[in-house]
Amino acid sequence: SSNADIYHEMIVDYSRNPINYGTIEDHDVTFHDSNPLCGDSIDIDMKIDENKVTDIKFHGKGCAICMACSSVLTEITKGKSLEDVRKIEKNDVLSELGLEHLQAVRIKCALLSLKVLKSALYTYIGKHLENTEDVD
Ligand code: FES
Ligand code: FES
Repeated sequence: SSNADIYHEMIVDYSRNPINYGTIEDHDVTFHDSNPLCGDSIDIDMKIDENKVTDIKFHGKGCAICMACSSVLTEITKGKSLEDVRKIEKNDVLSELGLEHLQAVRIKCALLSLKVLKSALYTYIGKHLENTEDVD
Protein backbone atom coordinates (compact mmCIF):
# COMPACT_ATOMS: atom_id res chain seq x y z
CA SER A 1 0.00 0.00 0.00
CA SER A 2 1.06 3.60 -0.58
CA ASN A 3 2.53 5.99 1.95
CA ALA A 4 -0.78 7.83 1.96
CA ASP A 5 -2.55 4.66 3.14
CA ILE A 6 0.03 4.07 5.86
CA TYR A 7 -0.26 7.64 7.12
CA HIS A 8 -4.02 7.42 7.02
CA GLU A 9 -3.92 4.24 9.08
CA MET A 10 -1.62 5.93 11.62
CA ILE A 11 -4.07 8.83 11.93
CA VAL A 12 -7.01 6.49 12.50
CA ASP A 13 -5.02 4.44 15.05
CA TYR A 14 -3.88 7.49 16.99
CA SER A 15 -7.39 8.89 17.03
CA ARG A 16 -8.81 5.63 18.41
CA ASN A 17 -5.99 5.15 20.92
CA PRO A 18 -4.54 8.57 21.60
CA ILE A 19 -1.12 8.68 23.25
CA ASN A 20 -0.71 10.78 26.42
CA TYR A 21 -4.47 11.31 26.67
CA GLY A 22 -5.67 12.39 30.10
CA THR A 23 -5.02 14.96 32.80
CA ILE A 24 -2.21 15.70 35.26
CA GLU A 25 -3.75 16.66 38.61
CA ASP A 26 -0.63 18.35 40.01
CA HIS A 27 0.40 20.03 36.76
CA ASP A 28 2.72 23.05 36.75
CA VAL A 29 0.87 24.62 33.85
CA THR A 30 -2.32 23.99 31.92
CA PHE A 31 -3.82 25.71 28.90
CA HIS A 32 -7.03 25.40 26.92
CA ASP A 33 -7.92 26.65 23.47
CA SER A 34 -10.35 25.86 20.70
CA ASN A 35 -10.48 25.67 16.94
CA PRO A 36 -12.67 28.62 15.89
CA LEU A 37 -13.77 26.78 12.73
CA CYS A 38 -15.43 23.82 14.48
CA GLY A 39 -15.51 24.66 18.20
CA ASP A 40 -13.47 21.57 19.14
CA SER A 41 -11.07 22.19 21.99
CA ILE A 42 -7.94 20.78 23.57
CA ASP A 43 -6.43 21.11 27.04
CA ILE A 44 -2.75 20.43 27.69
CA ASP A 45 -1.34 19.82 31.18
CA MET A 46 2.41 19.78 31.81
CA LYS A 47 4.67 18.87 34.65
CA ILE A 48 7.91 20.85 34.49
CA ASP A 49 11.03 20.16 36.49
CA GLU A 50 14.36 21.99 36.13
CA ASN A 51 13.21 23.55 32.84
CA LYS A 52 12.31 20.17 31.38
CA VAL A 53 8.88 18.76 30.50
CA THR A 54 8.79 15.65 32.66
CA ASP A 55 5.16 14.82 31.85
CA ILE A 56 2.51 16.01 29.42
CA LYS A 57 -1.09 14.99 28.83
CA PHE A 58 -3.85 16.32 26.61
CA HIS A 59 -7.60 15.93 26.61
CA GLY A 60 -10.55 17.30 24.76
CA LYS A 61 -12.52 16.76 21.65
CA GLY A 62 -11.36 16.89 18.07
CA CYS A 63 -11.42 15.14 14.73
CA ALA A 64 -9.07 12.28 13.86
CA ILE A 65 -6.39 14.62 12.53
CA CYS A 66 -6.54 16.76 15.66
CA MET A 67 -6.29 13.71 17.98
CA ALA A 68 -3.45 12.18 15.95
CA CYS A 69 -1.45 15.41 15.87
CA SER A 70 -2.00 15.95 19.61
CA SER A 71 -0.66 12.44 20.25
CA VAL A 72 2.40 13.01 18.06
CA LEU A 73 3.04 16.45 19.55
CA THR A 74 2.91 15.23 23.16
CA GLU A 75 5.28 12.38 22.26
CA ILE A 76 7.71 14.87 20.69
CA THR A 77 7.46 17.22 23.69
CA LYS A 78 7.88 14.77 26.57
CA GLY A 79 11.39 14.95 28.03
CA LYS A 80 12.40 18.07 26.12
CA SER A 81 13.87 21.22 27.65
CA LEU A 82 11.67 24.33 27.52
CA GLU A 83 14.13 25.82 25.03
CA ASP A 84 13.66 22.84 22.72
CA VAL A 85 9.88 22.95 23.15
CA ARG A 86 10.02 26.59 22.07
CA LYS A 87 11.71 25.45 18.84
CA ILE A 88 9.08 22.85 17.88
CA GLU A 89 7.67 23.86 14.50
CA LYS A 90 4.52 22.88 12.68
CA ASN A 91 6.37 20.66 10.24
CA ASP A 92 7.82 18.62 13.12
CA VAL A 93 4.24 17.48 13.78
CA LEU A 94 2.85 17.44 10.23
CA SER A 95 5.72 15.43 8.73
CA GLU A 96 5.24 12.61 11.25
CA LEU A 97 1.82 11.95 9.73
CA GLY A 98 2.45 12.95 6.12
CA LEU A 99 0.28 16.04 6.52
CA GLU A 100 2.64 18.70 5.13
CA HIS A 101 0.26 19.50 2.29
CA LEU A 102 -2.98 19.57 4.22
CA GLN A 103 -5.59 22.07 2.98
CA ALA A 104 -5.92 25.32 4.89
CA VAL A 105 -9.19 24.33 6.63
CA ARG A 106 -7.74 21.14 8.09
CA ILE A 107 -4.45 22.79 9.11
CA LYS A 108 -6.26 24.34 12.07
CA CYS A 109 -7.25 20.81 13.18
CA ALA A 110 -3.67 19.59 12.86
CA LEU A 111 -2.10 22.54 14.66
CA LEU A 112 -4.59 23.20 17.46
CA SER A 113 -2.52 21.26 19.99
CA LEU A 114 0.69 23.03 18.94
CA LYS A 115 -1.03 26.38 19.51
CA VAL A 116 -2.15 25.20 22.98
CA LEU A 117 1.33 23.87 23.78
CA LYS A 118 3.04 27.16 22.86
CA SER A 119 0.50 29.13 24.91
CA ALA A 120 1.09 26.82 27.88
CA LEU A 121 4.84 27.25 27.49
CA TYR A 122 4.65 31.05 27.41
CA THR A 123 2.22 31.06 30.33
CA TYR A 124 4.70 29.03 32.36
CA ILE A 125 7.68 31.18 31.33
CA GLY A 126 5.71 34.36 32.07
CA LYS A 127 4.85 33.19 35.59
CA HIS A 128 8.37 32.04 36.21
CA LEU A 129 9.78 35.43 35.17
CA GLU A 130 7.33 37.25 37.45
CA ASN A 131 8.49 35.11 40.37
CA THR A 132 12.13 35.82 39.56
CA GLU A 133 11.39 39.56 39.49
CA ASP A 134 9.70 39.28 42.90
CA VAL A 135 12.88 37.79 44.33
CA ASP A 136 15.02 40.60 42.89
FE1 FES B 1 -8.20 10.40 7.35
FE2 FES B 1 -10.51 10.86 8.49
S1 FES B 1 -8.72 10.21 9.35
S2 FES B 1 -9.96 11.23 6.47
FE1 FES C 1 -12.63 20.12 14.89
FE2 FES C 1 -10.80 19.08 13.32
S1 FES C 1 -12.91 19.36 12.91
S2 FES C 1 -10.53 19.89 15.31
